[in-house]
Amino acid sequence: MGTRVAVLASGKGSNLQALLDDPDVRPWVALVVSDREDSGALVRAEDAGVAAIFLDPKAHPSRADFDRALLQVLELENIDVVVLAGFMRILSGEFVRAFEGRLLNIHPALLPAFPGAHSVRDALEWGAKVTGVTVHFVDEEVDHGPIVLQEAVPIEPGDDEHSLHERIHEVEHRLYPRAVKLLGEGRVRVEGRTVRVVES
Ligand code: GRF
Repeated sequence: MGTRVAVLASGKGSNLQALLDDPDVRPWVALVVSDREDSGALVRAEDAGVAAIFLDPKAHPSRADFDRALLQVLELENIDVVVLAGFMRILSGEFVRAFEGRLLNIHPALLPAFPGAHSVRDALEWGAKVTGVTVHFVDEEVDHGPIVLQEAVPIEPGDDEHSLHERIHEVEHRLYPRAVKLLGEGRVRVEGRTVRVVES
């Protein structure tokens, strides 16, 4: 049996779609969880015949409660790898430790530049000429863990947040399936902050 992947998403779920559209990754995606009932990701999962769960933050008032409920679901489903795809909650230390080395995030900037929730806007406002995409392991600090893959996206003179985020998305949709595949195939080694990809 292959790697069992859970994708956590709050938004429209285009990165989830890219994972579902990848013929190697698709069979691994066992579960999609969202903290937003109206998330497009839940619809995409259902359309693809993947189990989809809405976990209501209102039913789990503290972050620790929510994360424990999430951990329970993931354990029940025997999940090996957790992939954050636009999941807008910060995960507790307990959760992060439970999935250490098996928890990926995608960030729409070249970390450590422009961390946080508004990185596309921040890069534009800074006047940067280049931004990009980072796939990284999640550790206990936000947008901080070891970097698996990174790719630059040039900022063009007439760019606004929408046009720039669209080009960033194109890169994300290529990079994320590749990173998940590498991790699922056991080809990723973490040495301190450095991630090494083992050739197959
Ligand atoms: C992506 O830009 C990702 O980098 C960020 O949130 C966005 C999610 O987009 N973490 P989508 O919901 O996958 O379309």
